[in-house]
Amino acid sequence: MHVNTAVLLQLAYGEYAVGAFSVNSIEQILGAMRGATEAAAPLIIQVSHQARRYAMPGVLEAAVHAAARHFPELVFALHLDHGDEAACYEGIDSGLYGSVMIDASAQPLAENIAITRRVVERAHARGVAVEAELGRLGGKEDDLVVAEDAAWLTDPDAAAEFVARSGCDALAVAVGTRHGIHKFAASGQLDLERLAAIRARLPGVPLVLHGASSVPAAEVARINAAGGAVAADAHGVPEALYPELARRGVAKINIDTDGRLVWARVLREYLRDHPATLDLREPGRVFMAAYAERVAQLCRCFGAAGRLAEVRRRLGV
Ligand code: G3H
Ligand code: 13P
Ligand code: ZN
Repeated sequence: MHVNTAVLLQLAYGEYAVGAFSVNSIEQILGAMRGATEAAAPLIIQVSHQARRYAMPGVLEAAVHAAARHFPELVFALHLDHGDEAACYEGIDSGLYGSVMIDASAQPLAENIAITRRVVERAHARGVAVEAELGRLGGKEDDLVVAEDAAWLTDPDAAAEFVARSGCDALAVAVGTRHGIHKFAASGQLDLERLAAIRARLPGVPLVLHGASSVPAAEVARINAAGGAVAADAHGVPEALYPELARRGVAKINIDTDGRLVWARVLREYLRDHPATLDLREPGRVFMAAYAERVAQLCRCFGAAGRLAEVRRRLGV
């Protein structure tokens, strides 16, 4: 069942985090739904601006809703990740999204608030939730690479003003993570004190952590053993930290890179071990199973596993 994202985040707030998994293909959609179902966890499926360009607008969204019919127990939301204003309006007007992210984080505060406010008004009129971002993550974001000196961490006072004036439902914060395979380049570590200060200024407002993949060392090693060239010093958010993040108000955890690592590992190993294969469904099946396992494992780390019955009961569905 498809729901408004804010509803899922409110149920999770302070106790666990809902995994938001980035998808670009049917295999990722089916794998994520299978993983969440196996873990009995609520799920957010997210489609980025680049993913919509890759698959063509509307295709992934339709596939998500079609796939969901095969997982009748699932409670999920479809989210537009890192949208600009035009993409957000398209997503809102399509009626297919439970939330959109307006990413005007590169703009000065007043401009970010004004843009977010416009998106919130249009979204709320259609029953769609809005995530906005204050602060800038380093690393690759959409089709632009944010240099370390352009990245900056979220200021707790500005965060309070931003949410009050923009009316957004959830706030993406920069507390030291980066998108991609290297986290914490500028800060050296996750700034948990800053996260606590933001939460204290914004009680009850779900926070979102981008750049939150765990980048398992074993996965990187397998990719490289099968001919890959992923930087050996790749590193992510330690899995043991996820419950602490949830306790500090992070109710949505964004995962893209961990899914890419599963894909690279499965493909490299499969093609190495089956040099005569020509059928993309063969590695596709292996990928779906491996990705489902990874999604289920992350849902367990986030404390979201086993929550589905409670979510259904509290939503009355
Ligand atoms: O938030 C950043 C995403 O992980 C990057 O994904 O290449 O689909 O924009 P993308
Ligand atoms: P990762 O690169 O850590 O998976 O972050 C994904 C993300 O933030 C998508 O919005
Ligand atoms: Zn992101």
